[in-house]
Amino acid sequence: MQIISSASKLKELLRKEQGSIGFVPTMGALHEGHLTLIKESKKHNDIIVVSIFVNPTQFLKGEDLEKYPRRDEADKKICEIAGVDYLFMPSAEEIYGDDEPMIQAPQVRGYILEGATRPGHFSGVLSVVMKLLNIVDPSRAYFGKKDAQQLFLIEQMARSYFLDVEIVPVDTVRESDGLALSSRNVYLSDAQRQEALKIPASLNLARSLITQGILDTEEITTQMKKVLSPLQIEYVVVVSRNFEYQKRVEIGNSIILVEVLVGTTRLLDNIWV
Ligand code: PAF
Repeated sequence: MQIISSASKLKELLRKEQGSIGFVPTMGALHEGHLTLIKESKKHNDIIVVSIFVNPTQFLKGEDLEKYPRRDEADKKICEIAGVDYLFMPSAEEIYGDDEPMIQAPQVRGYILEGATRPGHFSGVLSVVMKLLNIVDPSRAYFGKKDAQQLFLIEQMARSYFLDVEIVPVDTVRESDGLALSSRNVYLSDAQRQEALKIPASLNLARSLITQGILDTEEITTQMKKVLSPLQIEYVVVVSRNFEYQKRVEIGNSIILVEVLVGTTRLLDNIWV
């Protein structure tokens, strides 16, 4: 595995490679969820590129940019063992210049839900993903379904900007007790981690209500909120795969999304029904 910090060097090396390139962009602190993305990418591509870059433009002022978990040495070992060919670890100066153009997240879908609690977050995500895709120029890029709104916006950007890349969604990986894996789980105390289990419990309840034929959004989300209580709920909603709010669940076209604060830690989860 080669570890590269220069964008132009990585471009030069990848240009010489034959075969398809699978790309897994990350912010590091790699866990089983990232490994699943890498494994998926290995199934369908010849060369695997992973990036680790804690992207400053997707953090709002006062958010956890400074304390975001950084585990460079462990991450390098994980990538090596996972069979990654190129690990891209640029500095912020390598990626961003001064006063430069940014991708603007769409005015509606980029500013609802997580975009409402974190205005501007998705412009930062889309800008860095555009830059990384331009550097790596992959055949396929892999993103987790846990960040469903991010995934939707990246797919939309790839279409809108006619990018020559397949965006591949990958299922959420969970602990044995159901908690979705997230780099932010390390912030949780034991007691908070127990409280966080209300999130998968609420989604399981939603699934069982739907199985019983209850499709009314209001009814489902009211019951979910009872399970989530007393956690601070940011939102519990049902949207279509096109990220429009739905009054009724449509099997095959709905995502049930939850975001809560456990202490000060923001946790997201969802199910696709
Ligand atoms: O999901 C993430 O880890 C980040 O938002 C991403 C896609 C790597 C962009 O910084």
